[in-house]
Amino acid sequence: MKNLLLVFLSVFVFTSCQENEDKNLNKHEHNHDQHGHTHYNHHTNTPAHKLIFPSKTPDRIIINLTEDPAHSFAVNWRTNQQIDTAYVQVAEETHGPDFLLGDHVTCIDAKTQFIEVENERDKEPLVKAAYHSAIVKNLHPGKTYVYRVGDGSKKDDTWSEWFQIKTPAVDENAPFSFIYFGDAQNDVKSMWSRVIRKSYKMLPEVDFMLHAGDLINHSESDREWGEWFYAGSFIHATVPSIMTPGNHEYDKRTNRSKLSALWRPQFNLPEHGPLEELKETCYAIDYQNMKVISIDAQSFNNNIYSRQAQTKWLDSVLANNTKKWTTITMHYPIFSTAKGRDNKDLREAMKPLIDKYGVDLVLQGHDHTYARGYATNEGLGKTIVEDAGTVYAVSVSGPKMYESQDQEWMVKRGEYTQLFQIITVDNDTINYNSYTTKGDLYDSFSLIKESNGKKKLINNQSELLMRLKKDYVKVK
Ligand SMILES: [Fe+2]
Repeated sequence: MKNLLLVFLSVFVFTSCQENEDKNLNKHEHNHDQHGHTHYNHHTNTPAHKLIFPSKTPDRIIINLTEDPAHSFAVNWRTNQQIDTAYVQVAEETHGPDFLLGDHVTCIDAKTQFIEVENERDKEPLVKAAYHSAIVKNLHPGKTYVYRVGDGSKKDDTWSEWFQIKTPAVDENAPFSFIYFGDAQNDVKSMWSRVIRKSYKMLPEVDFMLHAGDLINHSESDREWGEWFYAGSFIHATVPSIMTPGNHEYDKRTNRSKLSALWRPQFNLPEHGPLEELKETCYAIDYQNMKVISIDAQSFNNNIYSRQAQTKWLDSVLANNTKKWTTITMHYPIFSTAKGRDNKDLREAMKPLIDKYGVDLVLQGHDHTYARGYATNEGLGKTIVEDAGTVYAVSVSGPKMYESQDQEWMVKRGEYTQLFQIITVDNDTINYNSYTTKGDLYDSFSLIKESNGKKKLINNQSELLMRLKKDYVKVK
């Protein structure tokens, strides 16, 4: 009887919470009229006002790595269209407010563009915004700077707060770390926020973050992009990031042939890609002793011109690469974790170059499962591999979960687990640790470049055994 009562109570509490949520959502809908925005009728999952509509105060502030992060950083932000002037103020960090004294603060002009999006598919309202963008140059490596963005006026409410940003170390072999996320994609505010926040809690000194595509589900959904910025909040403005587009950053209505109208306005990634359409999606960045390359895998799939251009470009970038370490990120995996998800054309074009130039890491997404291994693993289960080739990883950070099958290339795989990877590059060694959202170690390896030019792979012990979806929910 006691048990029955408990069940009844919990059902009641749950139902009651749902009702309150619904009431709140209705309230939001009415508020839109009061704020003078387009009225829209959305019965479920109504977007919160502040996730969608810009104001005169900067929001969606994000810093991106430039191709030369030792001397510059890129910053983007958004306001309403009443704000048509945009500046970045930057100074070297001080112990207190002293950077504001004298003439320590430099003011940089930003470019502004007006963008309108209306996601009718999800019954989202028309959103008119001003996107502002600047590259702050002439910085010194190994320094922490403070910056803020705003309209140049004296009023505080049109400026952001001051954020810190750290440039890479002077010694390019000094240790640095980055965090790699697979697809966030779904329920980003609700379910992905704790992943990026946990990763930041575990390593607040992280040097940059890398997103391997499918940051959101619907490329043209302003609400979903709003959720992505909300989830990362000040982390996006403090830790530089880079992102490679996935299929979901391409508009489904164009058969995934057109990049999201918001990608280029809201990010500020390198524009040296081999085609106009590959600007800010296919690029290379030098971070200390590592070259990080983004291949636009969806564009590669879309047409032969992009396929040929990216393959030729990658060959030339790798041929001229002088960095000790090389990482490639692309959304579609070279080795998929599941049958029926094979990317043969991508593998046949890219893998010969990856092998030829000895690329160290390939960081991917798309499969909504986890796997990590190398091409010649062949199920040997070795702890130490003396002459290792490229390590491939597929990961997922959001809550959408698929299944995988055990394959020869995999050292560790997993399902139904939201993960982030902390990768530390320390001169001749890379330490890669994949953590669950709880912070437990799911997979770990070290990659060591030896004096004979060979690369040793050490598969480290992790805390968790393989997690499979069937152990938690019924699978098809
Ligand atoms: Fe995908």
